[in-house]
Amino acid sequence: MIIEIPGELERFGGNIIYELQRVLLLDSGLRKKAPDLDSSAYPYYNISYEESYAIESKMSIVVPVKDVPLKLLEGVLFAIPHHCHVIVVSNSSKVPADRFVMEKKLVDNIRKFTRRPISIVYQKDKKLSGALKDAGYSSVLDSKGIIKSGKGEGMILAMALAKAAGKKYIGFIDADNYFPGSVHEYVKEYAAGFSISESRFTMVRIAWYSKPEISKDNLFFTKQGRSSVVTNKFLNKIISYYTGFETEIVRTGNAGEHALSTELAMVLGYSSGYSIESYHYINLLENFGGLDTIPYKKVMNDFIEIFQINSRNPHFHQKKGSRHIRNMIKDSLKVMYHSSVCPEPIREEIIQDLTAREALKEGEELEKGIYYPPLASLDFDKFKDSLPGPLTETLLP
Ligand code: GDP
Ligand code: CO
Repeated sequence: MIIEIPGELERFGGNIIYELQRVLLLDSGLRKKAPDLDSSAYPYYNISYEESYAIESKMSIVVPVKDVPLKLLEGVLFAIPHHCHVIVVSNSSKVPADRFVMEKKLVDNIRKFTRRPISIVYQKDKKLSGALKDAGYSSVLDSKGIIKSGKGEGMILAMALAKAAGKKYIGFIDADNYFPGSVHEYVKEYAAGFSISESRFTMVRIAWYSKPEISKDNLFFTKQGRSSVVTNKFLNKIISYYTGFETEIVRTGNAGEHALSTELAMVLGYSSGYSIESYHYINLLENFGGLDTIPYKKVMNDFIEIFQINSRNPHFHQKKGSRHIRNMIKDSLKVMYHSSVCPEPIREEIIQDLTAREALKEGEELEKGIYYPPLASLDFDKFKDSLPGPLTETLLP
């Protein structure tokens, strides 16, 4: 892959956020045949096939799924390179039809026919919930001791499993994607980001190039998602407040498609449900921004690199109504509002924005969401010992 070297960046304490990077060539071939780019003359990185292969072989791709048509999930799973490890984490309904059983059949068939490493787990599994409890990570459990519902909660479970499987990188891909080609591309871009990173603590986030919408019987390709526009605006406002310079650096506030080095995944704090992605930025500023007490001094010394890559395929997923979008915006803005890094004037703007969108009534308080501590507090030896046998077989082949 040939990818732009980011010209601009924003530093915030130990965080380095790079500007959006364009992809110039999706596949630049084998190392010895790849175009010879002299980076002093060309502002591009060239990531050879061998380099991406080496990274993808150490990566778990996590696919969170909740009641997504099987055809879509199948397309997504078929598009993930063979050498990546795959973890499907499902919170699908069991009634009237047991959708999880159908997903499990699909995954078992893929493993059988393609011989690839792939596991599926049920988010509400008693044994998995118990394994988290045994390992001292009970905050994601409900009063009955079962893992709570929510995309973020499923992702936390999957990150713990990827770490237990010894993977160095963890990438996320939503299951409701209609274009397998885009899924394949996201994985390549995750690998590209890790390949150019100089830090052990790295995050790669995708900003898709376009999203097709039907407008008056015609296709129209939009540039930014409906909730991303708002999330990005407020994240940039928070950064600008401290640096004193207006910025548009953040383009991936709501990126469902993102990847982290496992080392970074272990020291980040998480928030519940759909707010997890925007909270990444907020928690990076809270933990490593140098503003408050710093819980991970060592990480701040090493710095954290955040890459944003502009994918080439259009992003086409299940269309959600305006209520879903409004809730997503509310959840994203909530984690900003309640953060110690959010300045008072921006808090006021958040309330004004949510009230104008009727996501909040006049005078209503924006309640605080649910947060989870970093996975570093989990005892991985105990967690691995408590995992159910059949899962261990597919997870640690
Ligand atoms: P959007 O694309 O960000 O608007 O949100 P989606 O509703 O498409 O959700 C993103 C992904 O998370 C999809 O693959 C969903 O099926 C999945 N998802 C949503 N809720 C849950 C959940 O509670 N648990 C798990 N494991 N996945 C979920
Ligand atoms: Co979606």
